[in-house]
Amino acid sequence: MVVVSGSNAGTMASELAESLGWSHHALETRRFPDTEGYIRIPSETIDALRNEPVVLVSNTFPDSGIVETLLMLDAIQDVRAGRLQNLREIGPQTLPGVGKGVILAVPYFGYSRQDKRFKPGESISARAIANMLATRCDGMVVLDLHAPAVLSEMSIPVSFTSAMPELAGHLKASVNPDFILSPDKGAIDRASSVAQQIGCEFSYLEKTRIDAHTIIHKAKDLDVDGKSVAIVDDMIATGGTICRAAEALRSQGAVEVHAACSHGLFTGGAIARLLRYVDGVHATGSLPNARDVISGGPALARGVNDILVELGLSS
Ligand code: R5P
Repeated sequence: MVVVSGSNAGTMASELAESLGWSHHALETRRFPDTEGYIRIPSETIDALRNEPVVLVSNTFPDSGIVETLLMLDAIQDVRAGRLQNLREIGPQTLPGVGKGVILAVPYFGYSRQDKRFKPGESISARAIANMLATRCDGMVVLDLHAPAVLSEMSIPVSFTSAMPELAGHLKASVNPDFILSPDKGAIDRASSVAQQIGCEFSYLEKTRIDAHTIIHKAKDLDVDGKSVAIVDDMIATGGTICRAAEALRSQGAVEVHAACSHGLFTGGAIARLLRYVDGVHATGSLPNARDVISGGPALARGVNDILVELGLSS
């Protein structure tokens, strides 16, 4: 089996390939002067893509990642169907189709937070993007999707995988926290699984988001006096959620506070802001970021193995 990637998930793709013992091929990606993207499957990769099932690792973030992912899937489907016609008549123009076997693995699924329609007429963006991608692959793997329920009725199988076991292993080895905190109810399952794996205490806060930059946490007594605490979330964007949670922890006596997440978006100076409130920031490389200290490859590999079994492609 073979792993391929474009411009936005090369590190995750090589970590996945390493976890599975497969080969990793980079597809050619470029930008035209008007910013439109170009992709091409190099000649030396075409045979590999026809000989065995293929996993494309690609993010739907930023927006250009959505277009690039669609273009790469389309080109992979053409190659596997043997549609190779080209104006320069290079190589065979058609070949027999090789059947099913295109899996899309998305380390960071952009648009995942718009997973509900709050007002009439709104797009349920997470579902809209996923439906587009599903027209061009046989199965999908998504790492720590914000709210998996939004993709519960897809036309193809979807495997939801999580890097929380890797976060737990990393935190245990580097911080050894006494207490894990979920900064809101949405992260309870993820954060409590980390606490369970580490074997430490756990609690959560109730968060109200006023706008993208304003967060209010309901006051709650936390038994953190003199303790080292790690706040665990699926993603950190502006850092507002973590900063407010860290304030609550410090005011109740926490002596050391760390923040850990799968997806480090770190928008608009978030890392500098975070470091005024926490002692360490830990993330996977689901998307390129300055705090990539946890390998997401093993988590993605678990999801790929599950989907191969579901598609009847496992060897
Ligand atoms: C929201 O429910 C997510 O799980 C994160 O808590 C949120 O997206 C983090 O955003 P920010 O860092 O901007 O507070």
